[in-house]
Amino acid sequence: MGVTKKILVTGANKGIGLAVCEALLESYSETFVFLGCRNTDLGNRAIKTILEKNPECENRIALIEIDVTDDTSVQVAADRIRKYNASSGPNLFGIVNNAGIARSDSGPDEVLEVNTMGPKRVIDHFFEILQPDDGRVVNVTSASGPNYLSRCDRMTREILTSESVSWNQIREICSDYVRKYNNAPARVKTQLIDDVYGFSKACTNALTMVQARLYPNLKINACTPGFIETDMTRPMAARHGRTPAEMGMKSANEGTYSSIFLLTEKSVGSGFYFGSDCLRSPMDRYRSPGDPEYKGQ
Ligand SMILES: NC(=O)c1ccc[n+]([C@@H]2O[C@H](COP(=O)([O-])OP(=O)(O)OC[C@H]3O[C@@H](n4cnc5c(N)ncnc54)[C@H](OP(=O)(O)O)[C@@H]3O)[C@@H](O)[C@H]2O)c1
Repeated sequence: MGVTKKILVTGANKGIGLAVCEALLESYSETFVFLGCRNTDLGNRAIKTILEKNPECENRIALIEIDVTDDTSVQVAADRIRKYNASSGPNLFGIVNNAGIARSDSGPDEVLEVNTMGPKRVIDHFFEILQPDDGRVVNVTSASGPNYLSRCDRMTREILTSESVSWNQIREICSDYVRKYNNAPARVKTQLIDDVYGFSKACTNALTMVQARLYPNLKINACTPGFIETDMTRPMAARHGRTPAEMGMKSANEGTYSSIFLLTEKSVGSGFYFGSDCLRSPMDRYRSPGDPEYKGQ
């Protein structure tokens, strides 16, 4: 079968992003993968690893340099893919906004820049080259988002779960968070740094609703990959003196299921948040994998 589905995965030089690229190439013969990375040496190494296992995929993968915090980098990446599309068939079918960081000692700004502004920046620059009908966007968020909303103040929760939430409201709430951090005493600063990951993912779930309204012909959803052993989570196991398996972490391949589901499932809606079991979850409280699917708005 010829290539009909080109898919960009950001932050794909390692971890879950790399596993998503690999799973798409191995199991979906109609796909072409743009492996996004901000460091091309690491990206090329990742491609080499994939091709050592799957040499037959050589013509179905290309490296795209993309730093999701940098407007120019995202624009250049979109231009490269636009040129690629012009010379070889259909537009981009899908984007997996996977790039993410867990924390930054420089303050909450960097985490928000990567985890929330990043997916916004990518869609702003890429929507014109996405397939106009049934193009897919997957925002990889986290159960930390609903966990954060389940214990934050009521106003934040109401804004970030409102179907009519706007990008301006999300941006404003992010600016408030940073302002609060800048003016806080040391003890509160530490708490805000600890919480910013969940806050950023709650904001990206809300962004998913905004994007779904803005681009009604696309299918734009968010998901958690589950608790997955990667460079992001290994330090957590080390801090607890336990192995990743003892902590309940799953393999990177298992972390691909929800993203792949949202790229491939025909009947999926738009503007929703999914658990790692590929069932819908609420955005303001945790639903365990295996618990009944969330049916609300
Ligand atoms: N692992 C889990 O249990 C878990 C749970 C819930 C959600 N998630 C989410 O899953 C996604 C992947 O996480 P992971 O566990 O695979 O982490 P990871 O192994 O640390 O990979 C993160 C990837 O994001 C890239 N990245 C970071 N900042 C970037 C930027 N500014 N521009 C472009 N790429 C950037 C990293 O590139 P470099 O190598 O250059 O740093 C790396 O490729 C993240 O969004 C994370 O929040 C993970």
